[in-house]
Amino acid sequence: MSWVLIAGASSGIGRAVAGQWAAAGNNILLAGRDLDDLGRTAADLSLRYGIRAEALPLDVLDFSRHAAFFSEALAKAEGRIDGVVIAHGLLPDQAEAQTNLDVLRSTIDTNYTSAASLLNLIAGDFEKRRSGFICVVTSVAGDRGRQSNYVYASTKAGLTAYLQGLRQRVAKANVSVTNVKPGFVDTAMIWGKPGVFWVAPPERIARDTYRAVRRGRGEIYTPWFWRWVMLLVRSIPDVVYRRMKF
Ligand SMILES: NC(=O)c1ccc[n+]([C@@H]2O[C@H](COP(=O)([O-])OP(=O)(O)OC[C@H]3O[C@@H](n4cnc5c(N)ncnc54)[C@H](OP(=O)(O)O)[C@@H]3O)[C@@H](O)[C@H]2O)c1
Repeated sequence: MSWVLIAGASSGIGRAVAGQWAAAGNNILLAGRDLDDLGRTAADLSLRYGIRAEALPLDVLDFSRHAAFFSEALAKAEGRIDGVVIAHGLLPDQAEAQTNLDVLRSTIDTNYTSAASLLNLIAGDFEKRRSGFICVVTSVAGDRGRQSNYVYASTKAGLTAYLQGLRQRVAKANVSVTNVKPGFVDTAMIWGKPGVFWVAPPERIARDTYRAVRRGRGEIYTPWFWRWVMLLVRSIPDVVYRRMKF
């Protein structure tokens, strides 16, 4: 049976994604900081779907442990991980992120640098083996910066460019790279935030993610209509956009 590694598996989206792959009969490695939460999810998935699920400690900001973390993950999976979904992330308060260097740095490090560092290791392994899938949850926010969240948005835009290059690099080795761009999703990340609409359940994102990976898609918007919403947002001329309030 295949092993799939989920980084940020305690997230609303990560947990739903883990359930989706477990339901399809894959073994799951759940990585994150909250081992109690991950242990409960692992027990639930094993019982429900008759698969193996294991919790693994991962603080993505502990860069010096990334290599050891990936070795541990490989050991748990008997030497072969078949796919990875990166689903951790941080949405900071924009006002703090534009005034406080620590908040700025932790946002960039959590959303961009840690994902790139983990993917450097994972992509190298998959490339050598000439198989595997890589899937990363970014956001529609990365399509165009807005005054209300441009620090967060810029980390997702940076990661999108990283994934475009990585996709080209590893395509030759039969490794796929899928960028999942959700709109608003009903998780702890946006609870109580003003200005959210068309909020989708995490299970919907997980279903679309699974289907996109299975079909080898490079990039998806989920739910699908965000592709057209963002096309419209990107096409607003800058002279108009800079006067808009959202
Ligand atoms: N919710 C939305 O509307 C939305 C929209 C578009 C994209 N996204 C993206 O979807 C992804 C999942 O977010 P979510 O909505 O499911 O939010 P969430 O429930 O708030 O999850 C955030 C996750 O990131 C993890 N995390 C943060 N810092 C970490 C660190 N230093 N080390 C390890 N894990 C860390 C958290 O772990 P702990 O449990 O340990 O805190 C948690 O599992 C994120 O990349 C987010 O940007 C979300």
